[in-house]
Amino acid sequence: MIKKGTKIVTPKGKLGILLPGMGAVASTFIAGVEAIRTKNLPAIGSLTQMGTVRLGKRTEKRTLLIKDFVSLASLEDIVFGGWDIHGESCYETAIRSGVLNSKHVEDLRPQLEAIKPWKAVFNRRYVKRLTGQHVKRTRNKRLLALEVMKDIEEFKKTQRLSRLVMIWCGSTETFLQPSEVHSTLAKFEAGLERNDPQISSSMIYTYAALSMGIPYANGAPNLSADIPAMLELARKKKVPICGKDFKTGQTLLKTIIAPGLKARLIGLSGWYSTNILGNRDGEVLDEPQSLKSKEETKLSVLDQILQPEMYPDLYRNYHHQVHINYYPPRGDNKEGWDNIDIFGWLGYPMQIKVNFLCRDSILAAPLCLDLALFLDLAKRAKMHGVQEWLSFYFKSPQCAQELYPENDIFIQLTKLKNTLRHLKGEKMITHLGMEYYA
Ligand SMILES: NC(=O)c1ccc[n+]([C@@H]2O[C@H](COP(=O)([O-])OP(=O)(O)OC[C@H]3O[C@@H](n4cnc5c(N)ncnc54)[C@H](O)[C@@H]3O)[C@@H](O)[C@H]2O)c1
Repeated sequence: MIKKGTKIVTPKGKLGILLPGMGAVASTFIAGVEAIRTKNLPAIGSLTQMGTVRLGKRTEKRTLLIKDFVSLASLEDIVFGGWDIHGESCYETAIRSGVLNSKHVEDLRPQLEAIKPWKAVFNRRYVKRLTGQHVKRTRNKRLLALEVMKDIEEFKKTQRLSRLVMIWCGSTETFLQPSEVHSTLAKFEAGLERNDPQISSSMIYTYAALSMGIPYANGAPNLSADIPAMLELARKKKVPICGKDFKTGQTLLKTIIAPGLKARLIGLSGWYSTNILGNRDGEVLDEPQSLKSKEETKLSVLDQILQPEMYPDLYRNYHHQVHINYYPPRGDNKEGWDNIDIFGWLGYPMQIKVNFLCRDSILAAPLCLDLALFLDLAKRAKMHGVQEWLSFYFKSPQCAQELYPENDIFIQLTKLKNTLRHLKGEKMITHLGMEYYA
């Protein structure tokens, strides 16, 4: 465990943010950071930029901006690089994705045009709905990992970067279960050599990043850093990792509402969720195996929050369904409906209906920024392995094998802020409050 008040290396020089998958989320993230730094806009949705942390007692009135409390990389020092199976520049992707309006994108055209993805490690076996020509032709998976490392080395050198982090923003890959080849680093490396089909493209990027000591976050639901081989590599190279699947949209609301119902001991007989979305992510999720990866992360959340085994009268046998429908006219502006059947005193039934008209990538972009800056902080504070304090950002938070993940967003936020307090040698906030009345 990291010591209270540990020494954190000051962030000097530039931070490279590596993005495998430069689609709607990545281009909205990049364009957003460019807009914020050139036009001095508020970074709405970003805890690292706008969030605060209270220190000490409420009477002390010491509440600081998180970015003034811990040393984070400045937005001015961020440089973007990444890979995609389409060779279009970030400007072209931003226009095609249709998340930001053309005025926003045109204003940033020179910066966005300058960002062009490198050729991707890609195999249709893992994302069946996509085809692309901008891919590496090498067939051997170990050599592909070396090519990714070479791209990173080159980027580091030409941009004169002092540090790097990687965030997987690529399409959701097909559902894979942890298997023998994932069980140790040695078996994984042997699997790379013989092109084991259980090693997906995202795992090759993960392996490359961790081998180079680069912190890694997985924004998608597929298996990548959450296998024993990658945990071993992260430990060996002393690299922080976290994942998986950005918590935005419907699941964000679910993890806000469910803890509230549980706090009041209100019962649940069913939660029916459906989504329509029409972006490329939706198209990829229209394929059953990619959808299965997503459904797994979306479905597990409620059980972990409600703990039916501890509250059988309230949460035993509730029906939970999640449906995702690809509906092109909707583009990135997803619509999610939730019908929540609840019951109260003496079992009287009630209903909650939620219709969330959200913008997927607008909700995901600030998460990318926070994850990049916090992972960089973790590395400088010598934290390594799974970063449970970053659960706040994920639908299916990675945690130690013997634990259940913490999905309650309010506990996640407390955990995150207490971690920052701990790092800086400040007292934890327990919210006990009796000291004010002694
Ligand atoms: N937007 C959200 O709110 C949200 C929330 C949770 C998770 N996610 C996940 O984040 C990821 C990105 O979402 P998006 O909306 O930007 O999707 P997108 O389809 O617009 O972008 C994904 C990009 O990844 C590229 N890609 C696929 N395989 C690749 C590979 N092997 N190497 C390099 N590039 C590859 C695709 O060509 C595409 O450009 C998806 O997996 C999605 O499920 C998004």
